[in-house]
Amino acid sequence: MKPVLAVTRRLPDAVAKRAAEHYDIRTQEDDDPLSRNEILTLCHGADAALVSVGDPIDAAFFDALPESVKIIATFSVGTDHIDLAAARKKGVIIGNTPGVLTDATADIAWLLILGAARRASEGEAEVRNATWSSWRPTHLMGTQVTGKKLGIIGMGRIGQAVAKRARGFDMDIHYFNRSQLPKDQENGATYHSSMDDLLPHCDFLSLHCPSTPETKGMVNTDFISKLPDGAIIVNTARGDVVNDKDLIAALKSGKLTAAGLDVFAGEPNIEPAYRDLSNTFLLPHLGSATVETRNAMGFRALDNIDAFVAGKDVPFTV
Ligand code: DGY
Repeated sequence: MKPVLAVTRRLPDAVAKRAAEHYDIRTQEDDDPLSRNEILTLCHGADAALVSVGDPIDAAFFDALPESVKIIATFSVGTDHIDLAAARKKGVIIGNTPGVLTDATADIAWLLILGAARRASEGEAEVRNATWSSWRPTHLMGTQVTGKKLGIIGMGRIGQAVAKRARGFDMDIHYFNRSQLPKDQENGATYHSSMDDLLPHCDFLSLHCPSTPETKGMVNTDFISKLPDGAIIVNTARGDVVNDKDLIAALKSGKLTAAGLDVFAGEPNIEPAYRDLSNTFLLPHLGSATVETRNAMGFRALDNIDAFVAGKDVPFTV
């Protein structure tokens, strides 16, 4: 008999195929976000669960989780949707998928940098809505990226991949991280030991820090006031790192030229004011959304479960 695996969302075909070869899959017909109770129902009689970004794997979930489920693999590197302390208390192992979404996410950060700087959403809307009148010397003038200063908060794998791409744009790279990278990995980037030191050096700022009690709401009015006037912020990390009201106020006042956002607090129910601003470039959490990357994430999540079921060390745990 195959072990039973509860799966909360539709999986990419290649991942679903591999999962079905090894597990008896319990899942939903559709691809909707499930409530805590719906996920718990799937977990009844399961040996393991494969969950996704946004699933409410909180303390109440662990309280009610059947004892049979001893591993939860998340189809993500981020684990902010999981109460890790409650998992530990319950003795449930949490697996995640680091390392395989670096390039895809760095590419989306760059899509946001360029899209926000070059007013891509306004331009695309004109072409689509047939409101493009003519070439004009002053039409949709954006901000040049080449040669500017890029600040990076969080110089892990993704931050470093964003920096690597920035070198192709001759950018002057500055970063803040919990610790300085070894010199041979800095590749000319300048380390700042505090955020206050970093912020004045950011014509562009790209966020790559996890959501933690320390970073929640970090991008607020005080933080933004330390950026150069006209700076551009992009976020591919987690939405709640930003204080939405303060960011929107800075976008309205012109303190910031633009923002490119792939992640939002409370997504998909985003702060509606973002939609009304012409200087926002908005994407629906697509950082890792390539076929190659989503397959790799799914395989990594299955590797975690396979190892656990085989009594081996789980390769990627938090
Ligand atoms: C993750 O894995 O945490 C990403 O946000 C998914 O794109």
